[in-house]
Amino acid sequence: MSSYRLAELSLPEGSTPVRVAATDDRWFDIAVPSVGEYPVYDDMLYQIMIADTPRTDGYRRAVRRHARGKTVLDIGTGQDALWAIASAEAGARKVYGVETIPESARLARDAVDRAGYSDRVTIVEGLSTDVELPEPIDLCVSEIIGTLGGSEGAASVLSAARRDFMAPGGAFIPQWSATTVGAVDLSVPVPDLQMCLDGDTAKYLEKIFEHVGRPFDVRMCLPGLRIEDLISTRATVEELTFADEIPMDGKDQRELVITRDRTLHGFMIGMLLRIDDVEPLIDSTAQASSWIPVYAPVSDEGIPVREGDRIVFDFSWSLSDDGVHPDYRMEGEIRRAGQSAVAFEWDSPHHGTVFRGNGFYRSLFPVEGP
Ligand SMILES: C[S@@+](CC[C@H](N)C(=O)[O-])C[C@H]1O[C@@H](n2cnc3c(N)ncnc32)[C@H](O)[C@@H]1O
Repeated sequence: MSSYRLAELSLPEGSTPVRVAATDDRWFDIAVPSVGEYPVYDDMLYQIMIADTPRTDGYRRAVRRHARGKTVLDIGTGQDALWAIASAEAGARKVYGVETIPESARLARDAVDRAGYSDRVTIVEGLSTDVELPEPIDLCVSEIIGTLGGSEGAASVLSAARRDFMAPGGAFIPQWSATTVGAVDLSVPVPDLQMCLDGDTAKYLEKIFEHVGRPFDVRMCLPGLRIEDLISTRATVEELTFADEIPMDGKDQRELVITRDRTLHGFMIGMLLRIDDVEPLIDSTAQASSWIPVYAPVSDEGIPVREGDRIVFDFSWSLSDDGVHPDYRMEGEIRRAGQSAVAFEWDSPHHGTVFRGNGFYRSLFPVEGP
């Protein structure tokens, strides 16, 4: 098991990251890792999720609408047992909250005790795919939706729940998730682009690298990116409807049209979430939330594009060898009027072996490490 100490890699004292690609007061040069697909949850991450009110209030309202009189399973209940307690408050007959992180499960049990629902809510420590439940489930609540809709393993985990636990006609909260893809321009050539890590996030990177056993090009999110930064139309891929049979692997062929004369460096990857029929769709590229758009770098120097150029690509996902989390891949071609087509690819395995594989990652991790 190798560890990777980011503190040893910080920029020389006195050097300031060059701030690039400003749009109003937003900046693209701060990057944070996509954390949800690794077992690195701590109090700070749970608090960030709770503070995401469109998410938290939307779930609470949906649970209130659907849980009354039901037997409920809350997968990944977290340290606050939020949806398990909300289900009990809503009049659920019986609730099972399953949580894989032992400390979070212990705290969840305390939270249920404090709320006075220990008679109706049972916290089970373990992976939902390993535990047994004594009765069929009418309503499965979970929030294991990633920065790419399926990146936290929702397809495999909720398919298993459907097969192993659900009563016929059982319902799911959320109902559906998807991933979105659109092209972006980071505005300055990468030789001048000095990405930097948000100071708070170095510890999560270290934990992820420790969990995987090596440093690698983990998916990075750019909190400054928003839908208005797109220089192309947007495509929806990896649609997952949780009450249906979900294939673990998939490939979506899509086409984007460039909408502005700019320089394409990569893609903004977002997440769409439908909690239930009533709640408004959550779009990680259109609103500030606990889901941050992922940046998929495909060209260090940038590819000049003109309005009307087309990007034709395959977006594919397949289960990684941990049996839960998908690996993602995009490959395609930018077809430019009057110029040669440019091929591109983006490989984003859940726990890859490539480290510092392009200019984006080399600017985040300036040296190879120990
Ligand atoms: C994004 S957090 C959500 C926490 C809380 N339910 C909420 O919505 O605020 C996901 C939680 O699910 C847990 N988890 C993920 N997959 C799981 C599984 N298959 N079985 C049990 N717990 C799981 C994680 O450890 C984490 O605590």
